[in-house]
Amino acid sequence: MSDTFQIGLFDSGVGGLSVLRAVAHELPAHDLVYFADQKYCPYGPRPASEIRARSTRITEFLMAEQCEVVVVACNTASAAALAYLRARFPHTPFIGMEPAIKPAASATRSGKIAVLATRGTLEGKLFSRTRAHYARDVQVQTVYPTDWVERVERGDIDSPETLASVRAVIEPLLEAGVDEIALGCTHYPFLIPVIQAVAGGRATVLDPSEAVARQTARVAPRHPARQAGAAHAQFYTSGDANEFARVASKLLQMQNTLVFRSDI
Ligand code: DGL
Repeated sequence: MSDTFQIGLFDSGVGGLSVLRAVAHELPAHDLVYFADQKYCPYGPRPASEIRARSTRITEFLMAEQCEVVVVACNTASAAALAYLRARFPHTPFIGMEPAIKPAASATRSGKIAVLATRGTLEGKLFSRTRAHYARDVQVQTVYPTDWVERVERGDIDSPETLASVRAVIEPLLEAGVDEIALGCTHYPFLIPVIQAVAGGRATVLDPSEAVARQTARVAPRHPARQAGAAHAQFYTSGDANEFARVASKLLQMQNTLVFRSDI
């Protein structure tokens, strides 16, 4: 256990690594602790009560690891548990995810935007509130890509089958005139190169992770653990540590990712 200040992040699996990458870039001198709840992945189809219980357990774990700020690097967990976590741990700052509807709605020229997210996120109150607030004057198409989370979990971000799956989701949106695509699941940014290859400049893809990283920098105490250098991250999974290490190394293009299994 470290005795220095750390930032905790969690997700159902490897998706939150897209947020970790942005936070590490924004705060290179801070130590990060990442928890992947892969035993329970995917969160998307699970009831909100179960996701709240897992999020609480993981937050306690991260706090025991001396994390002073927690980034809920998962849209589905943010939708189900963010308000609950803030009420339950009032002294811990939480940063959550939500789909970039506001920037998509203000940037669209066609008046048609798409939000891609899990079922849990799209059916949650947080999403309907944000939509009602920021996207009253535009058409919003919501899509739940059924196999993208599982593909990214396997590290399958570049196979012909993944390209076909992305094409099947993106083509109909382009044909309907959508010109802004907001990613509302932290797994999806790893598919941005494929999405952009399919979109071919006809739509902009919006990933909120950089905005979340800037918000984390605003909230994080200014006393980093170490002098500036490459951000240091420690990884835990409730699933298979070797498999997490294999996929994380591919997604983040890192060598020798050290991962611990945690049975919380
Ligand atoms: N990465 C997640 C999200 O942002 C969760 C995907 C899942 O477990 O279904 O929603």
